[in-house]
Amino acid sequence: MALHIDDLPAAIRKAKRELRETLPNYKAVFAEVESAMNEEANRIAAVRDRGDAVIPEIQFADIVANRVSPEQIALVKSRGACVFRKVFDQSLVEQWDNDIADYVERNDLDKKLLTRAEDKYFGQLASSKPQIYGVYWSKPQVLARQSDELTQARVFLNRLWKTESEGRVHFDPNHVPVYADRLRRRPPGSESLGLSAHCDGGSVERWIETNFRKVYRHVFSGNWRDYDPFDAAWRTDVEEIASPAVCSMFRTFQGWTALTPQGPGDGTLQLVPIANSMVYILLRALQDDIADDDLCGAMPGRALSIRQEYHPPLFRALSSIPLMQAGDTVFWHSDVIHAVEDAHRGTGYSNVMYIASLPSCAKNDAYLKRQLPSFLEGKSPPDFPADHFEVDFVGRATADDLTPLGRSQMGMNL
Ligand SMILES: [Fe+2]
Repeated sequence: MALHIDDLPAAIRKAKRELRETLPNYKAVFAEVESAMNEEANRIAAVRDRGDAVIPEIQFADIVANRVSPEQIALVKSRGACVFRKVFDQSLVEQWDNDIADYVERNDLDKKLLTRAEDKYFGQLASSKPQIYGVYWSKPQVLARQSDELTQARVFLNRLWKTESEGRVHFDPNHVPVYADRLRRRPPGSESLGLSAHCDGGSVERWIETNFRKVYRHVFSGNWRDYDPFDAAWRTDVEEIASPAVCSMFRTFQGWTALTPQGPGDGTLQLVPIANSMVYILLRALQDDIADDDLCGAMPGRALSIRQEYHPPLFRALSSIPLMQAGDTVFWHSDVIHAVEDAHRGTGYSNVMYIASLPSCAKNDAYLKRQLPSFLEGKSPPDFPADHFEVDFVGRATADDLTPLGRSQMGMNL
């Protein structure tokens, strides 16, 4: 179900009135949160500045062998992000990267990009659009999504969540439906094509919509230390404002698979590795210096922007992910703030396949049903701008490329 808001300023005023009534000491609670967030951001900045890793790294072989330690898991849950090393063999991924280059070149994608449907999602962010291609159905993407490797990685990630709470089972972590997403291909030397800091998966909805308020029930009641970003209660029930390029599936983690080596300075991903930073964002907007009809600039149907002027502690923790090799993957919790560096000063293409982690639930099954015809016809999936570049692309993946696992992850058995 999509959320409709006719009069946004009125809806924001009403939400703020209600939330402040429930939490009359919002100022004192925010002061506590701000101090805790400052402390955490400073801790992370100190670790980063002495050259140590702030994004936990796990060898994929350790996931396969079931030997990831409880300490590593605790760190992933606290940082809300992780890098998996060597998920795929480098040689396989290099072949995939070549195949994708061949696929987009052979089918004249660059010419088609000139006529692309407008993508308003990133419109308000200060930096302009990165080189994200509306290509969803190349063979490497389809093969990677249905691979045993990424399936194991995503099941591991789904299982970090508390799937049962408040007397309900929220999802099945062991089945990983496909959310077909795009590619990034960034040529070296590109400037000012990053993305400023934001969160996906809801902007003004988080304060306004009933089930979002239940997700953040402990924040809005002032018991913010009880808030567990990995408690799935109500996560699969939230309603977003319908908009092209807003994800309507429930993702446990967003993520991508590196197709080329890329590191800090190459226009790569930056994260605020604090899993519960949403506590700060939510309560910040209720403070008295923010206008009654404003939520720190949050705009409906857009990414939730994080701004230096409103959220300074979070910026101190904003850190580039480490050097990635082809075949490594990075994942970040669906509420984690992320950005893409502006300048790409590296010497090679920095390419990734966006492949997120999702669990099986009614919300995701409903989207799979809408997504399946796009796969069969080579169209852009329902959540994305209706470019439909690949309809007549030569070499596109078809149902014949799907394994039994792939068919089930695409929802062909539903
Ligand atoms: Fe994003």
